Amino acid sequence: MDIEKVFHMNGGAGKTSYAQNSSLQKKASNMVKHITVEAIQQLYNEVTPKSLGIADLGCSSGSNSLSLIKDVVEAVEGGDSHKMFHPLPEFRVFLNDLPTNDFNSVFKSLPDFYRDLKKDRNERCPDIFIAGYPGSFYGRLFPNNCLHFIYSSYSLHWLSKVPPGLYDEHGKSINKGNVYISDSSPASVSRAYWNQFQDDFSLFLKSRSEELVTNGRMVLITLGRIDHEHVDRGNSFFWEILSRCLAISVSQGEIEKEKVDCYDVHFYAASRNEIEDEVRREGSFELERVEMFEIEKQVKGGESNGTAVAMTVRAIQESMLYNHFGDGINLDTLFNNYAKIVDQEMAKQEINPVTFLLVLKKL
Ligand SMILES: C[S@@+](CC[C@H](N)C(=O)[O-])C[C@H]1O[C@@H](n2cnc3c(N)ncnc32)[C@H](O)[C@@H]1O
Repeated sequence: MDIEKVFHMNGGAGKTSYAQNSSLQKKASNMVKHITVEAIQQLYNEVTPKSLGIADLGCSSGSNSLSLIKDVVEAVEGGDSHKMFHPLPEFRVFLNDLPTNDFNSVFKSLPDFYRDLKKDRNERCPDIFIAGYPGSFYGRLFPNNCLHFIYSSYSLHWLSKVPPGLYDEHGKSINKGNVYISDSSPASVSRAYWNQFQDDFSLFLKSRSEELVTNGRMVLITLGRIDHEHVDRGNSFFWEILSRCLAISVSQGEIEKEKVDCYDVHFYAASRNEIEDEVRREGSFELERVEMFEIEKQVKGGESNGTAVAMTVRAIQESMLYNHFGDGINLDTLFNNYAKIVDQEMAKQEINPVTFLLVLKKL
C-alpha cells in the first residue's frame, strides 16, 4: 500500500473528523507548551533572524494545525531578545502533511486565525506568511538552511511504510491475527518494526539537518514506550484492541480472516534508548532534552473514556481500514466494539500510553 497516497486523518469538521477528535493531542501538546516556548526563545536569542522560518510537520487539519503559529509568535513577542534589542521578525510558516491531508479546511480557517491575532494586538498583525507544504517528511521537503524552528506533534510515530520484514518470501504475513507487535508475534516482527524505525528516523534527521540553520531547534512530540519491552499496557495495547475488534468482524462474517492477517499498521512506539541511539548515530543534532509524560484522560460531556479513545483511533485509522477492507467493513460497529473493550479493560486496569518530547539543536 502506498501510504503517501492513502493515509490521512478524517477531514472536514463532522462527527468522525480529526478536527472533532483531536483534543487529546491538543491537551498533550499544551502540557509541554512551556518547553516548546523555551526552545523557540533560546533559538531566537541565539540566531535573531529578521525572517524566521518555521515548519510544522504532520500538521493535519482542525484547530491543532494552526495553534503552533500563535505559540511561536507569542514566544518571540514575549522573549527578552525582541523586547530589549530587536523588532519583531517576519514569520515564514510552512504547514506540512501528506498530500491527501485536508489542507483546504486549514486554509479556510486562516481568515479567522488572522482576525484573532489582530484582535489581540490592537488590529496590528505581525507579518506572517503561511504556506501548505504537501509531502512526506521522510525525505527532503525544504531548501537548504531555510528553517530556524521545526515542530512535529503526534506524527513521527508513523513510519514511512509497513515494514517489509513482516511478510515472508511468498508475501504472506508473519504476524497473523495482529495489526502490531503483540504477545503472540514472533521476535522477527519487533525486529522488522525496529529496523524500519531506524531507517526512517535517521532519514528524517538527515533531511531536517540540511534544512535547518546551525543552532536551529526541533521540538518533536511522539508516542513511545517505557522500556525495551514492546508489548505493554500503553500504545501497543490500543492496537491489540483493534486486532480483537477485527477478529469480531471476522466472526460476524463481515470481513475475511486472510484480509485481517495481512493488515499491519505503519506505526512504531520507540523507547528512549532507541531514540537517543539514532540521534547519536546520525550525528547532526544535540539532544538537548527528552521528557516522557502521560496524557491525562479527558472526557467530553456524557461520553465514556472508551468512546473518546475509539473516536480518536477512528479519526486516525479510518482511511487505512477502508482502503484495505473496502466497503464491507462496518466501522460504526467496529468502533462501538472498540469503545466497549476499552471501557471494560480500563475498569480492570488503567491503560497508560506514553509520549516523548524531544528538543534537538542543529550542530
Ligand atoms: C495524529 S496527526 C497529528 C496532527 C497534529 N500535529 C496534532 O498534534 O494534532 C498525525 C499527522 O501526521 C501526518 N503524517 C504521517 N506521516 C507523515 C509523513 N511521512 N509526512 C508528513 N506527514 C505525515 C498524518 O497525515 C497526520 O495528519
